[in-house]
Amino acid sequence: MNIAVLGAGRIGSTVGRLWHAAGHQVTFAARDLAEPRALAAELGERAHAATVPDSVAVADVVLVAVPGSAVSDVLKNAGSLAGRVVIDAANQMGGHRLTLRQLADAYPGAGWVRAFNTLQARVLAEENHRQPPWVVFLSGTETAKRTATKLIRDAGFEPVDLGGVEDSQLQEPGSVLWNNPLTPNDAHDLVARVRSGDAVTVDPLAEAFDKLRKHAPDDPALLFEHLSRAVFQAGMGWRVVAAKWPGIREAFHRFDPARVASMSPGEIERVEGDTRVIRNRAKIEATVENARRLRALLDEYGGIRPYFGSFPDATAASADLRRRFAFLGESGVHWLLLHAADEAAAGR
Ligand SMILES: NC(=O)c1ccc[n+]([C@@H]2O[C@H](COP(=O)([O-])OP(=O)(O)OC[C@H]3O[C@@H](n4cnc5c(N)ncnc54)[C@H](OP(=O)(O)O)[C@@H]3O)[C@@H](O)[C@H]2O)c1
Repeated sequence: MNIAVLGAGRIGSTVGRLWHAAGHQVTFAARDLAEPRALAAELGERAHAATVPDSVAVADVVLVAVPGSAVSDVLKNAGSLAGRVVIDAANQMGGHRLTLRQLADAYPGAGWVRAFNTLQARVLAEENHRQPPWVVFLSGTETAKRTATKLIRDAGFEPVDLGGVEDSQLQEPGSVLWNNPLTPNDAHDLVARVRSGDAVTVDPLAEAFDKLRKHAPDDPALLFEHLSRAVFQAGMGWRVVAAKWPGIREAFHRFDPARVASMSPGEIERVEGDTRVIRNRAKIEATVENARRLRALLDEYGGIRPYFGSFPDATAASADLRRRFAFLGESGVHWLLLHAADEAAAGR
């Protein structure tokens, strides 16, 4: 199949790689073509990079793998979707997102499927072809689902069909089926419970929040590093940030909050001219400011664990983090909580 992958970040690059390995022609697209080109060069034959409309023009299948807030923008620029199967993998945490129904109504010539939105990119990258396989849920229009079913198997996962376009709400953030790797048997049991009203919806960040309440590391540098990574990643390709991270880490004193909080204006200016760092003045200044605010938080609560312990739930903690820290949006908080919680669980 000819597949256009719109968005070459974590989810687009991961799923695109799996389909490429399964023998498909894959064209990666984004606003900045540097990342799609790097991916195409790395994968070689059958992998390409193109603008969004050029990639869609030659595609049978389109994967939407851009931030939830960019979905309408990317589809507006995509050219005709008629006759194509469009798989929507985008999520928008907490905010308003276009539902599959709205997308299907806005672009009636295409077949619409919601899939690949329920497992983290890391799980998709590292745990494909596992036995028994993890489930990838899908919902949408009938013919389009047949194509998506094959593509889910090609990627190394087991498709579990939740139903039509309206049923896509069962796999949205907040559902117990979201961000919950399940074997086929467990998935069928849980879907039955969800349909009978027996399984409650959960806050998608509840598990991460709970880990942080119980096991947040004592070293504030660990939290500060995740916080700063969320700041630098805002609106940028994660791979660009990942490649620069060792340099950024050095420039910011391995994220020792005390050391960063005391950076002088001259030192900040030097960092702004340092080629190892992403030279975005607002983000650099936000990082220094956040070190100061983190120190104030530590003074106020006496530690990171008591800070998280002071909130009744993840929603309250997320809202406070957004209010408290500069340059931290909804997806930044999401990144911060999930990655800090992974670290907490690993006992680092
Ligand atoms: N990460 C996960 O584990 C995961 C799992 C399941 C679902 N998802 C969902 O998948 C989507 C992407 O997440 P991600 O983590 O892969 O994000 P990401 O790493 O930040 O990548 C986003 C990609 O979208 C491109 N992009 C952004 N705005 C665009 C626009 N208007 N037109 C064309 N391309 C655009 C970006 O490149 P340019 O900035 O150069 O355009 C980048 O290549 C999100 O909706 C997320 O909720 C993520």
